[in-house]
Amino acid sequence: MITTTISQIGAYVGQEVELKGWAYNFRSSGKIFFLQLRDGTGRVQTVYSKAELPEDQWAVLDTVRIESSVIVRGTVKAEARSASGFELTGVSFAAIQIPTEDFPIGKKEHGPDFLLDQRSLWLRSESQWAIQRVRNTIINATFAYFNENGYVKFDTPILTPTACEGTTELFSIEYFDMGNAYLSQSGQLYLEAGIMSLGRAFDFGPVFRAEKSKTRRHLTEFWMMDAEAAFVDHEGNLAVQEGLVCRIVKDVLEKNRAELAILERDVAALEKVQAPFVRMTHAEAVAKLRELGSDIGDMDDLGGDDETVLTKLYDRPIFVEKYPAVVKAFYMKRDPMDPTRVLNADMLAPEGYGEIIGGSQREDDYEQLLQRMKDHNVPTEPYQWYLDLRRFGSVPHSGFGYGLERIVAWVCGLQHIRETIPFPRLINRITP
Ligand code: 4AD
Ligand code: MG
Repeated sequence: MITTTISQIGAYVGQEVELKGWAYNFRSSGKIFFLQLRDGTGRVQTVYSKAELPEDQWAVLDTVRIESSVIVRGTVKAEARSASGFELTGVSFAAIQIPTEDFPIGKKEHGPDFLLDQRSLWLRSESQWAIQRVRNTIINATFAYFNENGYVKFDTPILTPTACEGTTELFSIEYFDMGNAYLSQSGQLYLEAGIMSLGRAFDFGPVFRAEKSKTRRHLTEFWMMDAEAAFVDHEGNLAVQEGLVCRIVKDVLEKNRAELAILERDVAALEKVQAPFVRMTHAEAVAKLRELGSDIGDMDDLGGDDETVLTKLYDRPIFVEKYPAVVKAFYMKRDPMDPTRVLNADMLAPEGYGEIIGGSQREDDYEQLLQRMKDHNVPTEPYQWYLDLRRFGSVPHSGFGYGLERIVAWVCGLQHIRETIPFPRLINRITP
């Protein structure tokens, strides 16, 4: 007996195979039973005939409910009408566990709160399966890209004594008798120490933001990839980001056609994601937004709505660069052409998705950095280790961070970030 998975059955046409999985649907005429099986790798139908199946097995089959766990044996045949391209002619059937009640998620429309309450079960639905597979491709593409470009994975801490991105969004916990510790908002500052040893490095892990933002773009726990490189300036930084995002989209288009089809994603829009990306300064973005009716001020940060408007104008990602220093973090290097601005860029994803990456060249001069910290009311004492990086062999360097779930939402074409992560944490939700 060949034990295999649905994704592999094409290799066994005409042969008998065994599959283990879950019955996600079924239909019976009393004589013919159509069992819809999923096993994690795909979906396929098995057709049983009462005349061909041992009587005791038919009796069990007849009690199957949705999401029963089952073992199916059958002969593989090509079936052009099915989505998988194959079908099984059932030879034997066994149940592992048959539920005693109806599966709570049915075919009717459910509201988002109900589905989130049922998240442990909702993850089995076809669209959620597809999203997690695309997410996996994006993670793997990221690792591949950095490995191929000389970056070393460098694991930054999650428990930290200080803030990275601003103190209003910190989750704090009691840390023994040492006072408060905080959950990391980004590994960037530690990664800057890493590249003074390794040259180029990236981290990838959960980060936490106690942001009171209830939007389709915000989670309180999300996965961030930070990348940092020595001897790379602002221009070089943008080139790395462009290369990474093109690689991610290319890999998803290659490996996840079926998943994108399940999600009804407009693939043509993804195919347009090619270098060079659109580039504009913050000042140009503000001017354009005003033309379109916005009342945004010269030195204002772009809001979510501004990003939506802007990114609907172009069919590829946009770098908005050189934001006012006052709206950005203390570590960003000033633009030598205009010291009120910084050498940063946010990458905004098209189709209204908005910011997926934030990055900048870093201030590498000790005195300047010290001054910025004072300007931003950042206490210098806990950051001595960070200032030391500017005292011992400081070099120009740049980096950026992406929010994995923002990228998943965009690539999958989702309305809301809550479906991009297995168990979303939102300001009003921490269960299941
Ligand atoms: O722009 P941010 O705040 O940048 C940093 O944290 C830098 N230290 C990164 C670096 O330079 N290494 O966050 C980076 C990205 C954003 O562009 C966005 O994609 C995502 O993280 N992000 C969020 N994603 C989901 N929910 C939230 N609340 C997010 N906040 C930021
Ligand atoms: Mg940002």
